[in-house]
Amino acid sequence: MAYPEDLRQMVDDHLETVHFSHGAGPDGADTTGLDEAMRYSLLAGGKRIRPVLCLATARAIGQEPGEYIEAASALEMVHTYSLVHDDLPAMDDDDLRRGQPTSHVKFGEAVAILAGDGLFAEAIGALAAVQAPPERIVEAVGLLSAATGVEGMVGGQYIDVSAQALDAEGLRHLHSLKTGRLIKASVEVALALGGVENTRREPFHRFATSIGLLFQIVDDILDVTGSDEELGKPHGSDERHGKVTYVSLYGLEQARSLAAESHEKALAALAGAGGETEDLKRIADYIYSREQ
Ligand code: IPE
Ligand code: IPE
Ligand code: MG
Ligand code: MG
Ligand code: MG
Repeated sequence: MAYPEDLRQMVDDHLETVHFSHGAGPDGADTTGLDEAMRYSLLAGGKRIRPVLCLATARAIGQEPGEYIEAASALEMVHTYSLVHDDLPAMDDDDLRRGQPTSHVKFGEAVAILAGDGLFAEAIGALAAVQAPPERIVEAVGLLSAATGVEGMVGGQYIDVSAQALDAEGLRHLHSLKTGRLIKASVEVALALGGVENTRREPFHRFATSIGLLFQIVDDILDVTGSDEELGKPHGSDERHGKVTYVSLYGLEQARSLAAESHEKALAALAGAGGETEDLKRIADYIYSREQ
């Protein structure tokens, strides 16, 4: 079953129009170079899974996806910021991302750090620009902040880089923070903006938690089985850095069955969600079977 290309196209078309800098002022001060670095990473391609999830969730709850495009774009900005920083020499020290030299290779480390910082800040602005009742926007901003923060992506990256001795449950926890929380937020933000009642959100939450874990298990598998060309990033990065992954802890075969289990859980949760969930199913299938 195919990935929702119409939604991906909507995201790409919108991101193309996003500019951050006012250009050079009469005093000569100029942020154009920073804008260039931010757009370089943002527009380098990428599967757009998080924004597409947000738009597909909008569709599932009977909303027009186009109304949520600023929220979708905010999620992609946070994700891109996390990639720019993840690749830095102090983190995974990788040279290739989305098939192109990483931000720090192209622009230098200082600009790459600032490009990541800039993308995060601009993401909050984009989310705040969604046309929705203020209380829904406040909820959505809180969700994005929590998914990014210490008990979210950044906390997960901290556990990842601090080489903590993790058992199976610890590894699941790490993955749920560093990758799962932002993927889950991609669904949650759309539910919040749509004012969906809490009782109706529960199956969507279970779906999102399962595909979040599934996503990082598959990422760990592809790090071992994929090529630089397919992935657009250097394979074998996890082993080079002695990372604890689903493959290092369980081996390839068992990692694959754990991926299958998460995929099944996701579909089971979706079956109880109601609404137009066809695109969400397509995304789950894509995350499970992707090779890039
Ligand atoms: C890679 O994310 C980083 C992880 C969270 C594992 P994606 O595989 O979604 O990267 P892009 O956006 O397609 O480049
Ligand atoms: C990073 O996980 C997840 C992020 C929060 C960016 P990885 O380090 O495994 O991501 P890749 O494999 O470099 O994309
Ligand atoms: Mg990493
Ligand atoms: Mg990495
Ligand atoms: Mg990886």
